[in-house]
Amino acid sequence: MSLPIVHVFDDEEQLAHGAADAIVFAAMQAIARRGRFHWAVAGGGTPKRTYGVLASEPHRARFPWDRFDAWLGDDRVVPSVDPASNYRMVLEHLFRPAEASPLALHAFNTEHPDLGHAALEYAAQLGAALPADPHGVPVLDLVLLGLGADAHTASWFPGSNFPDDLWVAAIDEEHAGYRRLTLTPTIVNAAQRVLFLVSGANKQEALRRVFDEHKNPRSIPAQRVAPKGPLMWMIDRSAAGQFFSD
Ligand code: 6PG
Repeated sequence: MSLPIVHVFDDEEQLAHGAADAIVFAAMQAIARRGRFHWAVAGGGTPKRTYGVLASEPHRARFPWDRFDAWLGDDRVVPSVDPASNYRMVLEHLFRPAEASPLALHAFNTEHPDLGHAALEYAAQLGAALPADPHGVPVLDLVLLGLGADAHTASWFPGSNFPDDLWVAAIDEEHAGYRRLTLTPTIVNAAQRVLFLVSGANKQEALRRVFDEHKNPRSIPAQRVAPKGPLMWMIDRSAAGQFFSD
């Protein structure tokens, strides 16, 4: 695993531009290498502006809209039209403004009566579409993640554990009122690169815990992220607080 690279931006707007640059860079690398860009998109609020920047010029013209697949990194078990749906958010903030084909956005089947089955279905789709690493794990070109105030990321909440051989997991107990489906640490850590986007003063303590406390991924789930390739954190000044000041 490589050491994390941390970028602190003055504000959310700068953060969104930095993140959109990094996404375009990862996309160009993947296209040069394999002719297609597979990335896992994050939900929550922070990436919305990044998606907006990516969908506008000059970034829009640099992104391979006809040669990419976006995979939801996690989602709430709600219909895709629900305001809490990450699928809906990514469509609204990225696909519609960019006029990209919604066929390139891969969603969990959140309406399946058996969540475990929905997880297996999504894992099978990833396995069929992506190249695999030497252990047979599908390799995403980029995984975008957020950080919760309790140090969760994706739908990995404090107390959760994931079997190594699982790529997608169903989270049957409710967190903030929702059951979830999520990529697991196994597939996230097999990715070419991982990018965290963190904004807002309510994230200061979670960031400090991820970087400063002894490894304890059961209580600090974001510490589970340890890809072989680059791990980058893009943080705005209000989230960085004093901890990342030079
Ligand atoms: C989700 C994600 C979650 C999110 C963090 C940060 O909410 O869909 O599962 O992991 O990325 O909670 O969310 P914010 O960007 O809204 O702070």
